[in-house]
Amino acid sequence: MTDDVDHKEYIDKQRDDWNAVANAWEKYDQWLADNFAYFDQILIQRAGIQPGHKVLDLGSGTGNPALAAAKIAGPEGRVMGVDVAEKMLEVARRRAKNQGLDNIEFHTCHAGDIPFDSETFDAATSRFCLMFLPDVPGALKSIHRALKPGARFTAAVWGTADKNLSFTLAMRVLQKFTALPSPDPSAPGPFSQGQPGALAARMTEAGFVDAVEEAAPVEMTFPSLDFYISNMKEMAAPVRAIMEKMDDETRARAMDAIVDEVRKFESPDGVVRFSGEAMIVSAAKGTA
Ligand SMILES: C[S@@+](CC[C@H](N)C(=O)[O-])C[C@H]1O[C@@H](n2cnc3c(N)ncnc32)[C@H](O)[C@@H]1O
Repeated sequence: MTDDVDHKEYIDKQRDDWNAVANAWEKYDQWLADNFAYFDQILIQRAGIQPGHKVLDLGSGTGNPALAAAKIAGPEGRVMGVDVAEKMLEVARRRAKNQGLDNIEFHTCHAGDIPFDSETFDAATSRFCLMFLPDVPGALKSIHRALKPGARFTAAVWGTADKNLSFTLAMRVLQKFTALPSPDPSAPGPFSQGQPGALAARMTEAGFVDAVEEAAPVEMTFPSLDFYISNMKEMAAPVRAIMEKMDDETRARAMDAIVDEVRKFESPDGVVRFSGEAMIVSAAKGTA
């Protein structure tokens, strides 16, 4: 992406796409916890979050890992979650209230406009957001600026497309039913930060030191094929956006083709399992 106009259009679309799936993310809250809560613990641990810390979470969506971080930060600490999609944050606020957390607040803003003073935070996290940003270096610089010297930022992003078939399967099938061009691997999207070394290098360029990267395998479990299909249609913002533009007949044929592909991952007990891989990258703001 090259200029501010492209960025603005792209960000507006991201906002709309994620707002459109906020209800579904709330509906599948337990499934998200069962499959991905593990990442919250890694992010909190690698970012070094402690009781009393002030924590920034970028792209909080419906509240992960911000809520888990608030439990560790405790009454003396505070978590600020930011996200471009207000409806996702409405769910996050509801979840915080239900969990009795009053040391957390959520702000609607684009990652490039993080509204906090320099050297405010003791730690920062981001779970599965960075890859959707049109200007990752700019966002990393904003986070770097907002951290205190010595504080760590830890992000989870999806690995490469070939390692994450659970997400790519539907997109690859849809590709055959639409005139979509092949995705540009350098454009923002679920796998744009997944190449080994890529995000660590970007963090270093943004001024971070001591970047450490680890590949984290994940198994995604869907209790049934029907569950997988509903989950994918309702939660996956990019899939939903494409399917909405199809006529009814094409959409029905595309769905049949997706079901045929997913059957290959169905166990005799009806459970659908996919392996995936995330990259966890952690780096510090230098003290010099
Ligand atoms: C895959 S969701 C992840 C949500 C949450 N962190 C989680 O792991 O459950 C990606 C989130 O990034 C947010 N996002 C996308 N582009 C953004 C931007 N430019 N600035 C801030 N947030 C953005 C979306 O609104 C969405 O909530």
